Amino acid sequence: MASSPIATADTFNYKVVRQFAIMTVVWGIVGMLVGVVIAAQLLWPQLNLDIPFLTYGRLRPLHTNAVIFAFGGSALFAASYYVVQRTCQARLFAGWLASFTFWGWQLVILSAAITLPLGITTSKEYAELEWPIDILITLVWVAYAIVFFGTIVKRKTAHIYVANWFFGSYILTIAILHIVNNIEIPVSLFKSYSAYAGVQDAMVQWWYGHNAVGFFLTTSFLGMMYYFIPKQAERPIYSYRLSIVHFWALAFTYMWAGPHHLLYTSLPDWTQSLGMVFSLILLAPSWGGMINGVMTLSGAWNKLRTDPILKFMVVSLSFYGMSTFEGSMMSIRTVNALSHYTDWTIGHVHSGALGWVAMITFGMLYYIIPRLWGREKMYSVRLIEVHFWVATIGVVLYIASMWIAGVMQGLMWRATEPDGSLTYSFVESVKSTLPFYAIRLSGGALYLVGMLIMAYNVFKTVVGQTAVNPAIPNNAHSTTAAAAKA
Ligand code: HEM
Ligand code: HEM
Repeated sequence: MASSPIATADTFNYKVVRQFAIMTVVWGIVGMLVGVVIAAQLLWPQLNLDIPFLTYGRLRPLHTNAVIFAFGGSALFAASYYVVQRTCQARLFAGWLASFTFWGWQLVILSAAITLPLGITTSKEYAELEWPIDILITLVWVAYAIVFFGTIVKRKTAHIYVANWFFGSYILTIAILHIVNNIEIPVSLFKSYSAYAGVQDAMVQWWYGHNAVGFFLTTSFLGMMYYFIPKQAERPIYSYRLSIVHFWALAFTYMWAGPHHLLYTSLPDWTQSLGMVFSLILLAPSWGGMINGVMTLSGAWNKLRTDPILKFMVVSLSFYGMSTFEGSMMSIRTVNALSHYTDWTIGHVHSGALGWVAMITFGMLYYIIPRLWGREKMYSVRLIEVHFWVATIGVVLYIASMWIAGVMQGLMWRATEPDGSLTYSFVESVKSTLPFYAIRLSGGALYLVGMLIMAYNVFKTVVGQTAVNPAIPNNAHSTTAAAAKA
């Protein structure tokens, strides 16, 4: 992996990476706070206070957009800009354009935060934003692609490190998905209609939706995994050859799996079968990648005892393995007949989101923040350890309660009496779910507490004296031994 003695922190554009890193923490708190509020509303619906902006239907898309695009998106900008510079040994191409991606992306997030509570939405899941915001997203994304690939072109290393392949494919794919799924006809400034109709609309939407998960929440974060796990473990990747096979197999297979979101619908039957088969095949590259990450720790397992950053990274990989296994199983039609519409899906989503996406992000942030600000370490390693345990307990409470609730709901809904009538009314299933919603709420609240602990630790690292090495000056933004070695 590229790490040249000549390179110093001054060689690189760290300003934009710092900006995105800080906003990752800020948007993580906001998005998860909204998640906790909607989790509480499912338990106590009166918490919407009869105010339209605070109703569940408006806050839910605010939550998903905030956590995926604001928190996840900022983390990906930060990580990809950091990794591409370090591995190419080159400063970001077109610094002003990189700056535009930061401010443009924040404007997108702000527009979402205003329009969604107002009820302005296309109603397509994960693509709710109306057409003027879609255009802004396109502009920012094209700028992102120019900065990223421009940096690859001007690299000083012969090889393009595998993490950049993962980041590059995520940037290209998201551009295509966003443009194709959002082809729409505007009828006013805040209203448009999809260019597709009926089942075609559903098909395009879930081709988008599934690949948004596949590329925004997976391929890109695998790019993070391929850089930061070897760095933190101080070991080369277990198998570089496997990482290349992993990349191509994943990129090819993901594209076909979207119809597993539309099983038992009016989508043609063969399309549903195709989606199911490709989802099962997808398990192989997913687990190949997970094993590659975990085996990178061969010979360094002892580090796990003392290094909470590595703990975050390894546990995130375990959740990646778990959620991909679960997803492949849920794609089997007969399993989906039970899981679909239930909280099992919500459990699956958050085992991927909290367990994989957010945990690898925490590991990445704890790795880069001291290096970006010229500190030797985070302010408090003990607080990272506390964050790790609080977050882990939080995820387990969240997903275990949703799994039990989901299976229970599925079984209650399909139970019938000998005369064919339903054994339970829908309301009975909702009432039985309430205790599990309470457990989910406590798990989510714990997870949010972990975020706040992280925010405090980041704040103290950035502005305060470092607890570990007071010799490093407070405002050393550039060349320090620690940063140059990163
Ligand atoms: C404190 C942490 C969090 C809490 C308490 C929380 C809570 C919730 C709740 C209550 C829902 C609605 C469930 C329903 O409709 O029945 C939801 C949906 C969702 N959340 Fe979270 N969430 C959290 C963090 C995250 C994170 C970090 C991500 C992604 C990176 C995420 C992604 C999603 C997605 C994609 C959905 C929609 C799922 C679907 O439609 O199937 N959440 N969340
Ligand atoms: C091999 C990998 C995976 C497969 C085959 C897979 C499959 C599935 C299936 C079958 C569903 C349920 C569809 C339904 O009944 O409505 C689903 C939902 C979902 N999965 Fe996965 N999954 C995988 C990995 C992941 C990962 C790693 C994440 C998150 C990082 C994730 C996020 C989601 C989300 C957000 C939904 C809910 C979509 C919605 O209805 O709003 N999946 N997945």
